[in-house]
Amino acid sequence: MRVLVGYASEHGSTREVAQRIADRLSERGHSVEVWTLADAPSADGYEAVVLGSAVHGGAWLAEASDYLHANTAPLGQRPVWAFSVGLARAVGGWFHKHARDPQEVTELRESARLREHRLLAGALSPEHLPMFGRAVYRIMGGRYGDFRDWTEIDDWAGAIAADLSSSRPPGAAAV
Ligand SMILES: Cc1cc2nc3c(=O)[nH]c(=O)nc-3n(C[C@H](O)[C@H](O)[C@H](O)COP(=O)(O)O)c2cc1C
Repeated sequence: MRVLVGYASEHGSTREVAQRIADRLSERGHSVEVWTLADAPSADGYEAVVLGSAVHGGAWLAEASDYLHANTAPLGQRPVWAFSVGLARAVGGWFHKHARDPQEVTELRESARLREHRLLAGALSPEHLPMFGRAVYRIMGGRYGDFRDWTEIDDWAGAIAADLSSSRPPGAAAV
């Protein structure tokens, strides 16, 4: 199937997750394009869409939100998978307790054919936060590092690939 993997990333960790998902889908015979959502073409040109964003302040990045609003109609007509990359799961404590789906995911549940949303663990370096943010983060028990779980990401991409293959019309070509 022709699949768009679109991402919004500030410091690169979400872009690498998107590329990894795309690689796994390609290996399974799908025709995949990876785009930053700041430049991505309309979802109209694809049979399925995987969308992801880094989480900042509990929300998706602006270009991801803009893409959803510009593509409400096509996202309502084809299967959509979504992922959010943040630190809530990885650092635990207050962050995990107060983690909730970004507003954009709630919107996708209402308006798109959302098959599944995954909250994935991301990465954070101290230099990504302003000085005040670093102080608050430390007081709240936050941790730095790369917490991405590539096995979980590979497994999820494999499940998406299998779902796409099973929804292909009988007799359709593999790609
Ligand atoms: C300014 C800033 C705000 C963030 N806010 C959140 C947040 O509200 N929730 C969360 O789970 N992670 C938050 N994070 C963590 C990032 O989403 C995470 O590190 C992610 O992997 C970054 O993706 P990127 O490298 O693609 O930009 C924040 C990071 C930064 C730099």
